[in-house]
Amino acid sequence: MRLGILGSGSGSNMQAILDAIDDGSLDASIELVLSDNPDGFILERARKHGIPTGLIDCRGFKQKFPDEAQTETAQALKDAGVELVCLAGFMRLVKQPLLDAFPERIINIHPSLLPAFPGLESWKQALDAGVPETGCTVHYVDAGMDTGPTIIRAKVPVKPDDTAETLHARIQEQEHRIYPEAIRIISAGGA
Ligand code: GRF
Repeated sequence: MRLGILGSGSGSNMQAILDAIDDGSLDASIELVLSDNPDGFILERARKHGIPTGLIDCRGFKQKFPDEAQTETAQALKDAGVELVCLAGFMRLVKQPLLDAFPERIINIHPSLLPAFPGLESWKQALDAGVPETGCTVHYVDAGMDTGPTIIRAKVPVKPDDTAETLHARIQEQEHRIYPEAIRIISAGGA
């Protein structure tokens, strides 16, 4: 399975996918890594691995993913022969131009048990809500925010002494396990 990754930040989930490919537990390749953030560490990680990278030009738009940039992104992914697009900490909402180019072939990882706590800093939302457990979800991307059919979820208990940092770190451990697993499931035709 030829993967394309979109990310804005640290790229630890992309790293987990790379590690799974490198240790032979995931039969896939990362063909292209694109970021809207020139300073995102995800680009550095990709370069270290010799993976082609590119910048998505969203200058002038704080949160929006402009149509033109989506069309260019879709073209770059197609040119790289990408079959599955993985959002890994990508902070802009994907809409029709890109969705139409990869129907049911864009997935995302989110740090909560969706449909609970969509949006930003879901681990803080979980702490504030006082729930006994939260977790993470890999799901197909549709035009909504953190909606779309679930592929796999993992539960994480919320401990009484958890801070936002400790809870987020524990959720990320599970993210790094289930993101490669979701790609395995899709490769096997199981979702
Ligand atoms: C993760 O917590 C993921 O669930 C969310 O953004 C974060 C990305 O982290 N969508 P990283 O860049 O993969 O380290």
